[in-house]
Amino acid sequence: MVLDNDFKQAQRRVDELITLLDHYSHEYYVLDRPTIPDSEYDKLYQELLKLEEMYPTLVQQDSPSQRVGGTLLPGFEKVEHDLPMLSLDNAFDLDGLRAFDKRVRQLVDGEVEYECELKIDGLAVSLKYENGKLIRAVTRGDGRVGENVTGNVRSIKAVPLKLKRAVTIEARGEIYMPKSSFIQLNEEREEQGEAVFANPRNAAAGTLRNLNPQVTASRNLSVFLYSIVQYGDLNVETQSDALNSLDKLGLRTNPERTVFQSIEEVWTYIEEYQNKRTSLPYEIDGIVIKVNKFDNQEQAGYTVKAPRWAIAYKFPAEEAKTTVNEIEWSVGRTGVVTPTALMDPVHLAGTTVQRASLHNVDLIKEKDIRINDTVFVRKAGDIIPEVVRVDFDSRSKETEPCQIPTQCPACQSELVHLEDEVALRCVNPKCPAQAKERLIHFVSRNAMNIDGLGEKIIIQLFEKQLVQDVSDLYRLNKEDLLTLDKIADKSAENLLNAIKNSKDNSLEKLLFGLGIKHVGAKAARLLAEEYESIENIKRASLEDIQSIEGIGEIIAESIVAFFELEAAMDLIDKLKSFGINMTYTGVKRQATINTDSYFNDKTVVITGKLEHFKRNDLKEELTLLGANVTGSISKKTDLLIAGIDAGSKLDKAKELEVSIWDEKRLLKELSE
Ligand code: IVH
Repeated sequence: MVLDNDFKQAQRRVDELITLLDHYSHEYYVLDRPTIPDSEYDKLYQELLKLEEMYPTLVQQDSPSQRVGGTLLPGFEKVEHDLPMLSLDNAFDLDGLRAFDKRVRQLVDGEVEYECELKIDGLAVSLKYENGKLIRAVTRGDGRVGENVTGNVRSIKAVPLKLKRAVTIEARGEIYMPKSSFIQLNEEREEQGEAVFANPRNAAAGTLRNLNPQVTASRNLSVFLYSIVQYGDLNVETQSDALNSLDKLGLRTNPERTVFQSIEEVWTYIEEYQNKRTSLPYEIDGIVIKVNKFDNQEQAGYTVKAPRWAIAYKFPAEEAKTTVNEIEWSVGRTGVVTPTALMDPVHLAGTTVQRASLHNVDLIKEKDIRINDTVFVRKAGDIIPEVVRVDFDSRSKETEPCQIPTQCPACQSELVHLEDEVALRCVNPKCPAQAKERLIHFVSRNAMNIDGLGEKIIIQLFEKQLVQDVSDLYRLNKEDLLTLDKIADKSAENLLNAIKNSKDNSLEKLLFGLGIKHVGAKAARLLAEEYESIENIKRASLEDIQSIEGIGEIIAESIVAFFELEAAMDLIDKLKSFGINMTYTGVKRQATINTDSYFNDKTVVITGKLEHFKRNDLKEELTLLGANVTGSISKKTDLLIAGIDAGSKLDKAKELEVSIWDEKRLLKELSE
C-alpha cells in the first residue's frame, strides 16, 4: 500500500511538474519573458526526469522530456494537406499596393481594414492539434503535399506540445532561425570544416529537414504562427482575432502587427519596418498585408495559387557594388584554411564593409570570384558581409581564376581536403599559425580569461619563442614580458598576476581552453559539472559521456579521442606541474551563479552588433553572474546592452527609461 501511495504522489508531482515546466517554457520561448532563472527550470526538469526514470509508466507523450526522439529517421513521410498551403502574390512598390487596394475594394462591400504583419524569412509549416495535443507538423512542400516533420518540430521549444485548452485546430506559420543562432552555427561549421549555410532561411530548412532529430534539437529554431485554417470551437471574425486566439492557446505569434484603414497608412508601416529590419533578431523579407475581416476575405476569394485578400510587399535587397583587391587565406586553430575577400570599402546597411569571408574553396569556384572583379555584397543575417555574385559584365579580360593555395600560408606544409569536408586543412600539428590561434583561444574570456593578454602580445610571445604551447604561459617571468613592445613594469606585473590567477579557474574554463574539437563552452561546463575532475573525464567511457543530457555522440567521441592522444596527456601533465587547477570548483550549476555581482537578479537585454563579444558567450557570462538575459524590452528590464546599429530596442529602452550601456561600459563593469 505504501508503494501505491508513493506512486500516486509521484503521479501528482509529475502532472504538477509538467504544468509548471510548460508554463515557464511558454514564458521563455513564446513570450520571451522568463520569470525564473534557467537554473530553477533545470532543477524542476531534473526532478521530472528522476520521477520518470523511477516510474516509466508515468512518462507522458507531451512531457517536456519527450521532445527529442533518439533514432535517426529513415526519411520524411509525404502527407497531403487537408487544405492546400497557398502562396502570396507580391508587390514591390507603392503602385503595386495601390493596385491591390483597388482590386480589393472592388470585390468587397463596405469599409476595408488591412492587417499588416512581418513576412518572416523561414519556411512554412502546418501544425495540427487534436484535443490540445500536437499530433502532426507538415512542411509546405509543393503546397498540396508536404513532409511530415512532427518528430523534429516537437524538439522546437517555442512549439507547445500541449495547448492551454483542449481544442482541435490546424494553425500555420513560419519556422525560422534567429540571426544570432545562424551566425553562431556558421562560425562553428566553418571551424569544423563543414559547408556554411547561405542565410538563416537555408539554415532553418536544413535543420528542420534533418534526419537526425538530435541535430534539430541542438540548433535553435523558433516559430511564429500567422494563420488558422481549421478553427475547432474558436469564435473568430478577423485575422487579428485569429492571432489573439493563437496567443491565448499558447502558440507564438509575432507581436509587431497592426490594423490600418487605408493603404497609405500601410505604406508608413512598411517604411517603418524597412528601417527597423536590421535591428530585428530574425530575418524578414517583406510585409504581408491581409484583409482583416473574414467576411471580406470570403468576398475577395482566391485565385488557384493565392488568396485575393492578401499580398506580400517584398523589400528590395540591400546590396552594394565594390571591387575585390585580394583574397587572404588564414589558418584557424584547428587548421582550417579560410579565404577572405579584401575589398574597396563600401557603405552597406549602416556600416562600412571591406572584408567578407568566402568560407571555402567550393564557394570561390562556384561563384567564380577573381581578384579585380566587381562584386555585389550584402549582409547575411543582416550582419555578416557576404559576396553575393560577380558582376561578370564588368570583368576585365585579364583576370584569372582564383589561385587556390596548395600549401599552408603559415607553415608551407601541403594542404589537404579531408573526406566529408569542404574545408582545406593544414594538418601539420606544429603549424605556427594554429599554435598562435590555440594560444589566443586559451586566454580568451570564456576559456582561461587571462586579462590583458591580447592577440598582439600573444603573437609577440610566440614569435620571440617565449611561448610555444599554452603551458609555456605559466613559465613566463617579468624579464620575458619586459622584452615585449609597449610593456612596462606595471603592465608586466598585471599580466603575471592575471596568468597566476587563471591557475585557480574552475575545470570548465580549462576544458574549453584546450580547444578539444566540438567541445564548446557549454559542453565543457556540462562535462565539468558531471565529472568534477579531469581524471574522471579521462576514465569515462564513450557511453558514459554520451549519456549526459546535452552531449551527443560526436562530442563524446571527440573527447575520448582527445584523451587518448599522447601529446594531449603530456600537455595536461605539464599544466598540472605548474599548479593549474583541474577540478570543478563551482557547486552544481545553480551555485556557479555569482550573487555578489552587479548583474545578479538584473533583467538584461542585449541588442545590436557586438564588437568584443560573441552574443551567446556574453549571454552565458551574464547568466553566470546572476543576470536574467531576455530578448525584449519591458518595464521589468533593468539594463540594455546596446552594440552597433541598435534599433527599436534602444528606442524602447529610452522610452521606458531603462539604463543603457555600450560595450565599453560593460567591459569596464565585467573587468571589475
Ligand atoms: S500568410 C495563403 N503571413 O510567405 C498564404 N505568410 O509567399 C498565407 N510568410 O509561404 C500566408 N510570414 O511561408 C503569411 N506573416 C505571414 C508570413 C507568411 C512569412 C511566408 C509563408 C508563405 C510565403 C508566402
